[in-house]
Amino acid sequence: PRSTLDRSSAASDVYKRQDYVYNLNLTISESQIRKCVERLARLIQADYKGEPLLVVGALNGSFVFLADLIRHLHLPIQVDFIKVSSYDAALKSSGDVRLHHGVRTPVAQKNILVVEDIVDTGFTADFIRKYFENEGAASVRICTLLDKPSRRLTSVTAEYVGFEVPDQFLVGYGLDYNQQYRELRAIYSLEGVVDSGGRVTEEI
Ligand code: IMP
Ligand code: MG
Repeated sequence: PRSTLDRSSAASDVYKRQDYVYNLNLTISESQIRKCVERLARLIQADYKGEPLLVVGALNGSFVFLADLIRHLHLPIQVDFIKVSSYDAALKSSGDVRLHHGVRTPVAQKNILVVEDIVDTGFTADFIRKYFENEGAASVRICTLLDKPSRRLTSVTAEYVGFEVPDQFLVGYGLDYNQQYRELRAIYSLEGVVDSGGRVTEEI
C-alpha cells in the first residue's frame, strides 16, 4: 500500500520513507548540490577576502544548506539565525512578512550574509535585507541555494545564487512541504500528495 499521509500506522520508518517518495521527481542531485555549494563558498570567500562575516540563516529551510556552506568558508565567521513568517498558507507567500525572532548577535557595522533556501516571490529576502540595513549593518548580501525568478513579486535579487529553477514546488535538502522532506539529501519536485491507493489527492 502507498500510504503517504497515514502516520498512525505501525509501519517502520524505512517503510514509510520508501513509500512517501513515490510522488517525488529528482530535480537536483546530491553531487550537483555539493559542487554548487563549493562554488558558492569560493565566490563568497574571494569577495570577503578574509573579512569577518556574520552568516545568518533564514529558518527553517536554510539549515541544511547553511551547515554545508559554512564548512567550506575559510573566513572568520559568526553564525546566527533569523525567523520570519509570512502570514499565509504553507505553500504561498504573502507580502505580509513578520519577524518571528531576530539574531542575538550585534549587527551594527558588520558584514551580513543572509542564507536562504529559496527566493520565490522575494518578500522574505526583501524583508530580511531591509531589516539588517535598518539595524545598521555595514553590508547585507543574500546567498540563496535556489532562485525562482519567474515567481518574483519584488525587486529583490540575491548576490549569490546556486540554481535558477522553474516554477515547480521543490522539497529536500532543507526545503519542506508541511515540514516534511527536509531530510532528503537531494532536491525533488513534488507533484502532489498521494493517498493509500496511489491517487493524487492534493495538487501542488
Ligand atoms: P518568498 O518570500 O516567496 O520568496 O518565499 C520564501 C519562502 O517560501 C522560502 O524560504 C521557502 O520556505 C518557501 N518556499 C517558496 N518556494 C518553495 C518551494 O518550492 N519549496 C519549498 N518551500 C518554498
Ligand atoms: Mg518553508
